Amino acid sequence: VACFILLPQFLLTAFMLWLLDFLCIRKRILMKMRKQETRGNSDDPPLCVSDSNRMFTFESLKAVWHGQKLDFLKSAHTGSLAPNTDVVEVEGLNQRVVTQFADIADFLIVYIKEAHPSDGWASTDAPYQIPKHQCLDDRLKAAQLMNQEVSGCFVVVDTMDNASNAAYGAYFERLYIIQEETVMYQGGRGPEGYKISELKNWLEQYK
Ligand SMILES: *[C@@H]1O[C@H](CO)[C@@H](O)[C@H](O)[C@H]1NC(C)=O
Repeated sequence: VACFILLPQFLLTAFMLWLLDFLCIRKRILMKMRKQETRGNSDDPPLCVSDSNRMFTFESLKAVWHGQKLDFLKSAHTGSLAPNTDVVEVEGLNQRVVTQFADIADFLIVYIKEAHPSDGWASTDAPYQIPKHQCLDDRLKAAQLMNQEVSGCFVVVDTMDNASNAAYGAYFERLYIIQEETVMYQGGRGPEGYKISELKNWLEQYK
């Protein structure tokens, strides 16, 4: 059943990725998106795809299908009980809290499977070459690299059964606000749906 519901969305995304491999189309689409971004909120990370980055490959289609399936099957929904999946602590990370909302919220990053592993849907834009995690140690080592990037957040990693990823439909990336065990805000699927501005708005209103 899931296959039939997901197929149209998957085919549409696959078609988009295919179009994006024509550089003239890619430039136009990215330019349009950037214009919308500057009109909207600059808190959101810009979508960057360099020319050398191929979008329509067997690995990319596999990754997209996996992400859309996880999203469909996730158990986290706004207003429902937040899944309390196990996570693993990363040693040697700075454990400060994001300053602006430190008084009202704790920030937690759950590092899940790699979106662009070097042996999967590799991205020429990725700053690091990280193969698919074969064991928890691989995952913990990769998470340690986030140390410089995300000062102010507590970082943990998903377990090797990828339970948090599944429960929250997190792949490739996703934002949530949880209050008293309830999902209050569920961001869209990243990268397009990953809107820090939405999270900020929610927190500002709450404040
Ligand atoms: C979880 O993800 C990793 C890739 O990071 C993979 O090697 C592993 O097989 C996955 N586990 C399950 C149970 O699917």
